[in-house]
Amino acid sequence: MKQTVVYKVNPEHPEGSAIGAAAAVIRAGGLVAFPTETVYGLGADAMNADAVLALFKAKRRPLDNPPIVHVANAKDVYNLAEEVPAKAELMMKQFWPGPLTLVFRKYASVPDVTTAGLDTVAIRIPKHNVALALIRASGTPIVAPSANLAGKPSPTTAQHVFDDLNGRIDVILEGGLARIGVESTVLDVSEDPPMLLRPGGTPLEALEKAVGEVRLHPFITAEKELPPEKTRSPGMRHRHYAPKAQVILVEGIVPLVMKQIKELTMSCWTQNQRVGVLATDETAWAYEADVVKSMGTRRNLDAVAANLFRLLREFDEENVDIILAEGVPTEGLGLAVMNRLRKASGYNIIKVP
Ligand code: TXA
Ligand code: MG
Repeated sequence: MKQTVVYKVNPEHPEGSAIGAAAAVIRAGGLVAFPTETVYGLGADAMNADAVLALFKAKRRPLDNPPIVHVANAKDVYNLAEEVPAKAELMMKQFWPGPLTLVFRKYASVPDVTTAGLDTVAIRIPKHNVALALIRASGTPIVAPSANLAGKPSPTTAQHVFDDLNGRIDVILEGGLARIGVESTVLDVSEDPPMLLRPGGTPLEALEKAVGEVRLHPFITAEKELPPEKTRSPGMRHRHYAPKAQVILVEGIVPLVMKQIKELTMSCWTQNQRVGVLATDETAWAYEADVVKSMGTRRNLDAVAANLFRLLREFDEENVDIILAEGVPTEGLGLAVMNRLRKASGYNIIKVP
């Protein structure tokens, strides 16, 4: 077991001493968890194949699922990507730093393990002063998947990171709450029109406004598991965001969703199951279940996104057998929320009507 050191840092003005110590760990091939505006990431030197391999091990992440390379300056993209299309440059100007990851054709100098053997590389500039300071002080691009054990919801606090990875990584930079709460949007710009591979913190509507047509990978709209040949982003193949309890997602018109969840609660109770309901502010009052939690108001899907992963982790602590989750509209960040909920349910979805 490693000794994991936690440094508390100011999220706006991170202390140089902590950043310097963490950057030295990165340069020596070690693993540092740090906050970004989306979720906490687990960082390693992207150009050091051994360090990246150790990162996969620490997370228990399958080697065929490539992580995202984080840079501090758009200029750094030209050292990693062989081809940067005009539409990509436009989006880099408009959305970086921020929750948008772009997939480019890569240079051979990027280690294979960093891109899981693909000929493309995923890159973003995070909008968080701790992440940016760490990348700059390390003097190298930092590869960083979400800082959770594979299969767990992504961490939005340093405590979540500690719960999953204490003893497995070198440093945690504790810098408050990850504001957005879902991961970055992943967009493949190695083809035209660009293709959305993962909905996330940058809404699809904003991308379409910036560059016109964006194609949706079939997986985004999928309401059941797709066969492997249809999966492009390797991460799509792996079970994600899986809480311990079984999740049933109920989608449709709100009063009917409520009625369905109440009926399901009753039938679960007759089987002596402990039932959790993942509701919204508008509906939470109406449920009688063992545990009821609200994701926030339906009028603010940004807030729903910010709460989602924390609530899934909280349900794990409550030892419920089943989580009955309400669907939300797929507008704005709602598309990312529904994508995560559908995956968490293993596509166990009930539509009314
Ligand atoms: O917000 C985020 O993106 C967070 C923070 C830490 O920046 N990171 C994150 O990383 O969510 P991770 O590794 O958990 O998710 C990376 C996603 C996966 O779905 C992976 O399949 C996809 O990006 N990806 C990475 N490289 C790719 C590539 N070359 N082509 C297609 N998809 C790729
Ligand atoms: Mg992840």
